[in-house]
Amino acid sequence: MLSTFVLPLFLASASLVAAVPPQVRPYFGQGANDELRLIKTSELDPGTWVTEEQKITDYVAKDIHFIDITDIKNETTLARLSTPQEVSTLESRAITYPSAISHQTQANPLIAQLTTTGPKTWMTALTTFYNRYYRSTTGTQAGTYLLALAKNLTASNPAIVVSTFTHSFNQPSIIVKIPGTSPNLVIVGAHYDSTGGSSTARGPGADDNASGTCTLLEALRILSLSRFAPKNTLEFHFYAGEEGGLLGSAAVFANYASAGKNVLAMVAQDMTGYSPSGKVSVYTDYADAGLTGFVRKVVVGYAGGAYTTDKCGYGCSDHASAFSNGFPASYVCDEVIKTSSPYIHSPQDALSTIDFTAVLRHSKFTVGFLVEASYL
Ligand SMILES: *[C@@H]1O[C@H](CO)[C@@H](O)[C@H](O)[C@H]1NC(C)=O
Ligand SMILES: *[C@@H]1O[C@H](CO)[C@@H](O)[C@H](O)[C@H]1NC(C)=O
Repeated sequence: MLSTFVLPLFLASASLVAAVPPQVRPYFGQGANDELRLIKTSELDPGTWVTEEQKITDYVAKDIHFIDITDIKNETTLARLSTPQEVSTLESRAITYPSAISHQTQANPLIAQLTTTGPKTWMTALTTFYNRYYRSTTGTQAGTYLLALAKNLTASNPAIVVSTFTHSFNQPSIIVKIPGTSPNLVIVGAHYDSTGGSSTARGPGADDNASGTCTLLEALRILSLSRFAPKNTLEFHFYAGEEGGLLGSAAVFANYASAGKNVLAMVAQDMTGYSPSGKVSVYTDYADAGLTGFVRKVVVGYAGGAYTTDKCGYGCSDHASAFSNGFPASYVCDEVIKTSSPYIHSPQDALSTIDFTAVLRHSKFTVGFLVEASYL
């Protein structure tokens, strides 16, 4: 009796064992790549559970934008992510931006010092990592490199604070702060992670988005060297995990919202190194209209005089994280979507495709913007 009972049970449990999926596959020693995550591709999309790998192969590689909302707990933020912009009643904090730029005498001598020498060296280093996928060893190593570089570039000004913002994955976001006399924040951000179409593909990510990272670094180098002492506190953000659904920036801005930080302006720049039009492009969706108007004046005054305009949709870049947390955000890119780099998210997004004149144009924009906005 006992044995006839135990035997089927044993057989049943053996077949159960056989029926469960294969052991969770450790990925580069940091968690499973088949862990399920909840992503949204639009406000009205209720969300889809996908694996980490599917995010890259089925969405990023096909240029489908999404936001990973698995870790977003703030109800206000979740509501904002599910409410179409045109019916959203959740406004960013109302800030009146200047109707004209007015600090040229301070900004122009700084802008005159910007070069492409540093960006060429740094982009060579960043694109040499096999990829900068946020869950890979090389993605973490790229973070270590960037942290050391940010410390190097700011070593001449001991007032500047360089820190890491850690995440549930190993690649950290990196935050560089130039303290002002006011704690109110003006933020410029770019993500530094990259993918090449899958978690294991080569992903040099030159335009997307080492270019944005190098643009900000060059602006940081000059502001540090000149010991620029702002009224508002300036922060340079280098986000991890953008390609995983804005993971790094979502965590940073959730933290800032819960801490009650006062962000006066956040400008994201992603791709800055491929621009057949030779004009900075100012994107208008998921952005604060007042700030975007001010950003246009900065482009006209400091970065080439003319701009193009486009929209890039839900979750297209890190400004969306500032926006969904109620902060005024804006997005500046190297080109309109139609004529943008055809190489991004693939192994062909290589250093050789980068136009460093465009990178320099965006560095000029960044310094002009930070000098002007430091007085907001
Ligand atoms: C930082 O500077 C030191 C000393 O000049 C140098 O050895 C090191 O390679 C630099 N690191 C980076 C990441 O540039
Ligand atoms: C949620 O986000 C809002 C801004 O959208 C912020 O005011 C609030 O403090 C946040 N709540 C928590 C619990 O972090």
